[in-house]
Amino acid sequence: MDLDVFTLFPEWFDWFVAQRHVRNVLDAGTRLRAVDLREHTPLRGGRVDDTPFGGGAGMVIRVDVVDSALQAHYGTDPVTLRSSRRVIALSPSGRLFDDALAAELADEPALTILCGRYEGFDERIIEHFVTDTVSIGRYVLSGGELAAMVLCDAVLRKLPGALGHSESAVEESFSDALDGNPEYPHYTRPASYRGWPVPEVLLSGDHGRIRRWRTERSAARGAGARPADGVGPPSAP
Ligand SMILES: C[S@@+](CC[C@H](N)C(=O)[O-])C[C@H]1O[C@@H](n2cnc3c(N)ncnc32)[C@H](O)[C@@H]1O
Repeated sequence: MDLDVFTLFPEWFDWFVAQRHVRNVLDAGTRLRAVDLREHTPLRGGRVDDTPFGGGAGMVIRVDVVDSALQAHYGTDPVTLRSSRRVIALSPSGRLFDDALAAELADEPALTILCGRYEGFDERIIEHFVTDTVSIGRYVLSGGELAAMVLCDAVLRKLPGALGHSESAVEESFSDALDGNPEYPHYTRPASYRGWPVPEVLLSGDHGRIRRWRTERSAARGAGARPADGVGPPSAP
């Protein structure tokens, strides 16, 4: 996969690409580049934003700045770029990011991610350069960088080579393997701690029983049978 993140803070991604699971996928051939939106700005002094037409607080990222950054990086008109790769603008009001979208994006050969700042993007950027707007939740962050890392992390860990042998992205919360349900509970040593025993079935060595128990527990969590797990509906007051 070829992943480009356009941002005003490319150095934030130095830390991200140094993390082991990200390094693993990069070593296996995926490319992740953080591209500075300021680098090709046509405005003086590295400026990228301007005041909103119609008034109001805050600054807006200019369409000519994003046009120049995309043109310079891809050598093509950004209006046509989106027919060859998904171009995602991060926005609090975009399509909510979930495991299904992560899996969909993990199948793409190339992704471009635009990180907003200030009041966000001039709407013409969304209308003419972008294929998707994506939100990582219904709250407002100061910028798209953390959202981009969330998206990249969830997508990259689905790619071959991201996880070690002892980890698996196949049978995880919300995966097809669990019928879209949350994952079952895990336990490890000690088998009993402060009088809290591990469920007997997990110590039985009976793999059929263990599998059935896990499937039931996962389905029960999905049905909200145990709100205390934090994945069901809120408990009644
Ligand atoms: C301060 S926010 C802009 C908020 C915008 N004025 C609004 O009310 O929707 C600046 C940038 O952070 C990013 N951002 C903030 N919250 C986000 C979220 N929940 N999901 C994805 N991106 C987000 C977006 O790229 C956005 O353009």
